[in-house]
Amino acid sequence: MSEPKKYLKPNVVIEPLFDNWYAWSHLISPATAAKNIVGRHISIMESYISAPDVHAQAVLNPKMRGGPFMDFKGGRVPEVKDLLFKTLTSQSKLIAFASAIVALDKLLMTEAKGFGLEALYPKVPEILKGYVELYYDRNNNADFRFFESLLYESEYYNKDSQSIALWITNNDHRPFCLSTPRLTEPDVLQLNIPFDHPGIDELAKMKRVPQQLSYIKEILGITEGQSRFFEHLFTEEAPPVYQKYTGDKIRMRYFGHACILIETKDISILVDPLISYYGYHSDVEHFSDSDLPDTIDYVLITHNHQDHVLFESLLPLRHKVKNFIVPRTCSGKLEDPDLRLMFNNIGFKNVIAIDEMETIQFSDARITGLPFIGEHSDLNVLTKTCYLVKISGFKLLFLADSRIMEPKLYRHIQAVTNDIDVLFLGMECDGAPLSWLYGPLMTKKLSRDQDGSRRLSGSDCAKGMSLVDIFTPKEVYVYAMGQEPWLEFISSIKYTDESNPIVQSNKLVGICRERGIVSERLYGEKELLYEMKNSITPVKEWV
Ligand SMILES: [Fe+2]
Repeated sequence: MSEPKKYLKPNVVIEPLFDNWYAWSHLISPATAAKNIVGRHISIMESYISAPDVHAQAVLNPKMRGGPFMDFKGGRVPEVKDLLFKTLTSQSKLIAFASAIVALDKLLMTEAKGFGLEALYPKVPEILKGYVELYYDRNNNADFRFFESLLYESEYYNKDSQSIALWITNNDHRPFCLSTPRLTEPDVLQLNIPFDHPGIDELAKMKRVPQQLSYIKEILGITEGQSRFFEHLFTEEAPPVYQKYTGDKIRMRYFGHACILIETKDISILVDPLISYYGYHSDVEHFSDSDLPDTIDYVLITHNHQDHVLFESLLPLRHKVKNFIVPRTCSGKLEDPDLRLMFNNIGFKNVIAIDEMETIQFSDARITGLPFIGEHSDLNVLTKTCYLVKISGFKLLFLADSRIMEPKLYRHIQAVTNDIDVLFLGMECDGAPLSWLYGPLMTKKLSRDQDGSRRLSGSDCAKGMSLVDIFTPKEVYVYAMGQEPWLEFISSIKYTDESNPIVQSNKLVGICRERGIVSERLYGEKELLYEMKNSITPVKEWV
């Protein structure tokens, strides 16, 4: 009898790891990885080993949510010690690289006094030589940029740090992933394969197309000992069949947080993929993998924050996406790693970097990158873009977490794009301080006051309304609030009715409704259908 074909169960998590920590974009680019190993991972592990009970207490304190505390209830200290030891030995090169960055920062601070920088090149730490260019800003402050693409070709980009954990989830709850590493668990299978491994694509395809287990076992190199656990990740039960949209309208489906799927009968566009699982009871109704098309024409990434670039969602989609569009940067700045380079280096072949006000035109639709202001702690981060999607005359504007600090920017944009039909705006207006995300990259610790004044905050009501006044949309949706239970592990957000982002967004929704604008704060799932305005979009005109 021939071997039966099986499907991957819908609640199997393909969890990407870096040194046993949840992999996010700053752990891929070598320079940010080096600084995060030292300034985040080692620091949290050392802290836990010296005071596990303090961590256990802090995790229970809602005010400390998302802080640098391990969620192991004070236990597992010997295993954390092992992980620390393994990190110190296996990552010795990147740890030295991080120290060299500190030394270079110090060199520039003490010796670059406005005179020519050429004389300082011999003093650049040996391991950074040839990987950096020194420069002054216009205020005569010295800094450096990396030749980031060369770092990916060097020994500092080591794919051995990457692995995949496979496990079955039966609920939406997980510890905050930036502070708690994954230790060995009996119900988790860890595969030491890099993110560009073709087996990940073959495994993900089995969500829809059944395959013999011997085939996938061979590609992934499953050993005899792993075989039994691996087999229970599969089922003969076929998943629900995806119903392709065949109507003549534009269908918008909200998948949670900033993830929105736009479909017509001809095209599909998925913004900031964050796809939840199914196959178990969830408190909140939601679309999930079974609601995604068999092929996706465009995936749009708005900015390089861990809740908008999720490898856990992107790796399983890789095989079915024709084009990934990401914001362009090639600044080489430590705080602004290049997303296109990063995706290329983890096996994504079809990545397009889009500039501000640049348009990609295809059949009857167009995607334009628009400036994204704020929410990056006033760092010079360029890897961020809003998107205007125009389909047959109908315009949807995705602003992600932009904080509208200067409405005139959007007046200038409106002068080019004219009004829009639907606006999606993130209003997480009490974001984390700078140090939460960028702390490990800074040359020195900011004072508490400075840190607190430079937040990763989205727009409040007044700032959001300035956009409504400028673009006069017919519909306004607040999204990207990090509220859905299946993304608490990455957003660390749990609001109450009194939380400022809820108060502010309620206010905005209320004002919009008073003005006759359809408005709500999205949560869980939502489906809307829009009429196309005209069948052909003019290539050179916006209106
Ligand atoms: Fe963000």
